[in-house]
Amino acid sequence: MSLLVDIFPCRTDNYGYLAHDVTSGRTASIDAPDARAVREAVLRRGWTLTDLFITHHHTDHVDGIPALKREFGVTVTGPREEASKILGLDVLVGGGDTIRLGESEFVVLDTPGHTLGHIAYFELAGRQLFSADALFSLGVGRMFEGKPGPMWDGLMTLRGLPDETLIYCGHEYTLDNARFALSIDPRNPALRIRAAEVERMRAAGEFTVPVSLAMEKATNPFLRADDPAMARVMRLPPDTEPERVFAALRKAKDEFKPE
Ligand SMILES: [Fe+2]
Repeated sequence: MSLLVDIFPCRTDNYGYLAHDVTSGRTASIDAPDARAVREAVLRRGWTLTDLFITHHHTDHVDGIPALKREFGVTVTGPREEASKILGLDVLVGGGDTIRLGESEFVVLDTPGHTLGHIAYFELAGRQLFSADALFSLGVGRMFEGKPGPMWDGLMTLRGLPDETLIYCGHEYTLDNARFALSIDPRNPALRIRAAEVERMRAAGEFTVPVSLAMEKATNPFLRADDPAMARVMRLPPDTEPERVFAALRKAKDEFKPE
C-alpha cells in the first residue's frame, strides 16, 4: 500500500487523519478539525503537509483551514455544493470526480444527509474510505440537512465498495452506536462480537477505526435498512421501502436513551 494513514484523536471525539503518499511524499489531512493537532501529527511523522481534503462545512471539520493554509501553504480540496459555506477552498469537487495525491488516486463520493453537500473520499489502490460524518462504525451521522432518500442512496454507494475497504470515520462514537445497534438487533452474532470487542478496545483506550466494510455490512443497522428484519424491528411492513426504514432507524437513534 503506498498510502499510509496516521490516526490521531482531536477535539472532544473527532478523529484526525493524515494520508501520506509514500512515492511523492505528499500528505493530506482529511478535514481540519484542529490546526494544532494536525501540525503536531505532521511533525511527529516528519511529513510535509501539502493538502487538505474537506468533507463538509461543520466547524469541527474546517476550523483549522486558515491556520494550516497560512503555515503550510496547502491546497484545499472540498465539496462544490458547500463552497459558499467553507472559506479557503482552492479545488471544488463532487461525486464521481477523481483527485490525486501524488501517485494515490481518490474518487469523490456524494454522501448527502448529515449536510447537503457532504462528500467522502475513497482511495482506489489501497481501498481506504474517509467517510467523515456520513458513515460511522455501527452508525451514521445525524441527518441535519438532508432527506432520508438521498442519504440512503449515499450509504448504498458506500456499501457498494469492496468488502475489504477500510473505513476511517470522523468521530469515535462506536461504543454509543453499539448500544443502540444491540438494542434493536440483539441476536446478531457478528454485532455481539463486535460490540464486546469495542467495549474492550475503548476500555483500553484503543481506536475502533479503521473497520472493514464487510464488518459494517454485517453489524451496522443503518446499512441494513433494506433487510426485512430491520423493517420488522421498526414495526413496519416487510415490503416498506428501504429509505422509510432508514428514516425510522435514524429517528429511533435520535431518541435513543441507553439504560
Ligand atoms: Fe459534522
